[in-house]
Amino acid sequence: MSSPLAWVLGLFSKPQAPTSKVPPANSEAVERRRIDLRAALNAVSDVVQNRPRPLRIFDQIHMKSGDMVMQSEIVADWADGKTLAFIGDGDAISVSVAYLQAKGILSFGPTHITVFDFDERTVNAVNRFAEKEGISNLDAKLYNVFDAMDPEEEFDLFYTNPPWGASNNGESVNVFVERGIEATRCAGEGMIVIADDDELEWPKQVLASVQMFGLGKGFYVTRMQRKLHEYHLDDAPELKSCNLYVGALPRNGVSRKPSVAIDDAMRLANFYGRSKEPRVRYVKERKRLDYGVAHDDEFELVLLETKGE
Ligand SMILES: C[S@@+](CC[C@H](N)C(=O)[O-])C[C@H]1O[C@@H](n2cnc3c(N)ncnc32)[C@H](O)[C@@H]1O
Repeated sequence: MSSPLAWVLGLFSKPQAPTSKVPPANSEAVERRRIDLRAALNAVSDVVQNRPRPLRIFDQIHMKSGDMVMQSEIVADWADGKTLAFIGDGDAISVSVAYLQAKGILSFGPTHITVFDFDERTVNAVNRFAEKEGISNLDAKLYNVFDAMDPEEEFDLFYTNPPWGASNNGESVNVFVERGIEATRCAGEGMIVIADDDELEWPKQVLASVQMFGLGKGFYVTRMQRKLHEYHLDDAPELKSCNLYVGALPRNGVSRKPSVAIDDAMRLANFYGRSKEPRVRYVKERKRLDYGVAHDDEFELVLLETKGE
């Protein structure tokens, strides 16, 4: 069911002890997927240093670092040898996956990743990081999910960790999923990262709404990994998310319709939370920031007195 890193981290039940000394047939494959946890954590630390700070008005809430390592390995495994579109990615899972691959910490992963995000800070951070580290299979484009998806785009898979739709019964999720489905020309697979909680009602309603929406687009649920990730979310630190995997029904792409802009007020209501309708096309970057160091406006210096003053 899971990869070596996942069970090292205690997420899944350990595999049964072998009953004979003969190595299992897939031992080569398991060896290929063994990773250096220290190197992986340090690499993700580089990625986190590069990640623009979250804007809560747009529901940007970042995943915690340990979960990023595990999620990156899961995504790299799932997307091995495929092209992958990220519909929004403030978490920088795209960068983690590509960087772990580029550093040889993961020996598997997607052939190409493109991030589509309306926040220019994120887009620039991805492109600058890719350039600095010489990662040729990663890029990012400025794009708002309310605009039609370029029909020239074509990916095998999509990934999205969208606004979770607590106040609009998952409609925000569905808008991002729609763009992901279109990015695969309605014929690929997707990983949707959304809230998962047994105690709350809304995450269950959202999960149901997203699954129904997916079915309406010819995508069925292929798998679900429950309550995997935690976030820097001060008002709900316990809230976790799952990976919901969807895949296209056979020949689903044949009858696909052109992508169109979304401006239906019903779909946009409470998009980023209660009474937070979308009014912004892009978040533009004002000045280039190094997110890993203190900014000039965060501090002031009180100087030592020099002798004789
Ligand atoms: C809304 S956040 C959801 C939380 C997620 N953990 C994160 O912080 O990335 C997901 C990403 O979607 C992007 N986003 C939000 N609204 C968007 C829009 N209208 N079009 C494209 N991207 C959008 C954000 O900039 C962010 O990078």
